[in-house]
Amino acid sequence: MIRLAHFSDIHLTAPRLDWKLRDWFNKRYAAWVNYRWLGRRRRFTKADEVAVRLADELAQRRPDRVVFSGDATALGFESELKRTAELLRVGDPSFPPGLAVPGNHDYCTREAAASGLFERYFGPWQTGERLNGATYPFAQRIGHVTLIGVNSCTGNRWAWDAGGAVGLDQRERLRQLLAKLEPGPRILVTHYPICLSSGRLEFAARGLRDLTETLQIAVEGGVSLWLHGHRHNAYEFQETPLAPFPVICSGSATQNERWSYGEYTIEGLQCRVQRRVFDERAGSFRDGVVFELQLRG
Ligand SMILES: [Fe+2]
Ligand SMILES: [Fe+2]
Repeated sequence: MIRLAHFSDIHLTAPRLDWKLRDWFNKRYAAWVNYRWLGRRRRFTKADEVAVRLADELAQRRPDRVVFSGDATALGFESELKRTAELLRVGDPSFPPGLAVPGNHDYCTREAAASGLFERYFGPWQTGERLNGATYPFAQRIGHVTLIGVNSCTGNRWAWDAGGAVGLDQRERLRQLLAKLEPGPRILVTHYPICLSSGRLEFAARGLRDLTETLQIAVEGGVSLWLHGHRHNAYEFQETPLAPFPVICSGSATQNERWSYGEYTIEGLQCRVQRRVFDERAGSFRDGVVFELQLRG
């Protein structure tokens, strides 16, 4: 039996942001306007406090692995990444080990994506088996289960483009990595969803551009469960019309009123999910709904 704690989309920022001249002419300026003036900041007024409580909670409940599916930051600045990684105690040997993949906000611009800053600050949560020295994908074995971290984010040019892609090269490595894993459930962790809570596909400008190709590799490679974030409401499927395995969207751990994360107890192919929800009055997390999923064998 193993226990995972899955959280996502905490979107922390920092008191001082490292603006560069080019940021006024790329996607970051529009992202900042959205954050500062179009309501995003108002939805994350308690994000710092909730993230601190989340870290306390994880340190206390000690899951076998902490799983973070991206969007650590609001705008992908180095100061935000540094602060978030410190707050989440990434690399602290007394904290449970982790697995992390970036979100589209962490790759806010092409420069941010190419900088390797997310990978530097979350490096201790990206150890594992990988192919040809490439950063993604990577696999971590925990008990009878293998977690596979896949990067689904790209640095985009245009303000309206919030889409991502796994990309041809990474997809090929994913295919090879899945083929050589030991038997047991395979849990794929990525930022982007397969579908919305309604079961419909994301709009093209917000979704995974190579979803069909990535799904085909996941299905053929025996993926048992797909974990993701990006959407800030939590939802799950035992299976979707597109994929014969269960899918869990963790939602945002810190957005006002949506703040929650999932604790997954996996025994054989049975996965019991305990949602833990932030209680604003108590200033701590409490039990939410419980449900069970059958992993694909
Ligand atoms: Fe997000
Ligand atoms: Fe996102």
